[in-house]
Amino acid sequence: MAVFTSHCTIDEDNPPFTFLSPPINALKIYPYQSNFFNCQSLLPLRQTTQTSRTSMESYGQEVVLITGCTQGGIGHALAREFANNNCLVVATARSLTSMRDLDQDKRFYLQELDVLSDESVQHVLSNVVERYGRVDILVNNAGIQCVGPLAEIPLSAMQNTFNTNVYGTMRLVQAVVPHMASSKKGKIVNVGSVTVMAPVPWAGVYTATKAALHSLTDTLRLELRPLGITVINVVPGAVKSNIGNSAVASYNQMPEWKLYRPFEKAIRERAHLSQGLAATPTEEFAKKTVAAILKENPPAWFSIGQFSTVMSIMHHLPLSIKDFILRRKFNC
Ligand SMILES: NC(=O)c1ccc[n+]([C@@H]2O[C@H](COP(=O)([O-])OP(=O)(O)OC[C@H]3O[C@@H](n4cnc5c(N)ncnc54)[C@H](OP(=O)(O)O)[C@@H]3O)[C@@H](O)[C@H]2O)c1
Repeated sequence: MAVFTSHCTIDEDNPPFTFLSPPINALKIYPYQSNFFNCQSLLPLRQTTQTSRTSMESYGQEVVLITGCTQGGIGHALAREFANNNCLVVATARSLTSMRDLDQDKRFYLQELDVLSDESVQHVLSNVVERYGRVDILVNNAGIQCVGPLAEIPLSAMQNTFNTNVYGTMRLVQAVVPHMASSKKGKIVNVGSVTVMAPVPWAGVYTATKAALHSLTDTLRLELRPLGITVINVVPGAVKSNIGNSAVASYNQMPEWKLYRPFEKAIRERAHLSQGLAATPTEEFAKKTVAAILKENPPAWFSIGQFSTVMSIMHHLPLSIKDFILRRKFNC
């Protein structure tokens, strides 16, 4: 489905922005521009100089590293869909048991990875480089919801959400970029959210993390282009996953609200908002998203899932009308 936003029109056959940047070869005509854009000298040496046995075997196949591949979630469905498209998939999650069903399938290389830990990220990356010699596609999918009124949510919960959704993503980006840049090739996919298009009550922290991520993704797309790396913002609407249950579990840890006790029911319901009966099935989301990512010229912004069109329209409404609709819907 084509989605219209203030950023771009999603047209998979005509990816936005590509016409804005001159071809890299053109830059090399002008030495000062070449120096400005050529960041090769800043890159660390490739960590492995030897071509590993498996990197020969993986020749011609894309090596895809995905975070947050717990069974039942978007990352797990993306992992299976990339594998169906002949990719070698490094499926990662905080715990191997959450990906148990992929264990016997040779198309997957399973790794424990916590996006909050430098050590964990470096450990996985060195395993992957040793095994395959490279990462062709990084999918920053891991993320958590955070529900509650902004005036009362503990700062520690806010920080944890930013640490996971924003700094966790950047930790992976900073670890993987030198490897991709050394081969002047790669794709980085950040998973944002349509909630940024029209922020709703009771999920302000989550929305703020995704807004920050959208912004970082827009900048990364420009900054990484001279290094040969393509950046894609995948912006899901409501997609069936574990996110509702996880959100309720963390909501249950919140303190009792003081000013917002009368809104308790509405706030709790926000945790499930994306998990209604009409939420887009995870497999359908994954099929279309992976097809878009694997294109030679993938779109800069790919939005799909229930509410993605509605939220794009909401984005363009005058604030007074948007607030009126949201106040009625969310009882505030
Ligand atoms: N589903 C939707 O409607 C929807 C809409 C918009 C955007 N999104 C985004 O889509 C992405 C996937 O979410 P989902 O819906 O599939 O939710 P999900 O089923 O809850 O999956 C989230 C994944 O992130 C993992 N994760 C959380 N903290 C992590 C950490 N510190 N390190 C590594 N992994 C961590 C979770 O691991 P555990 O299982 O160990 O907790 C899980 O594997 C998220 O970025 C989410 O914000 C989802």
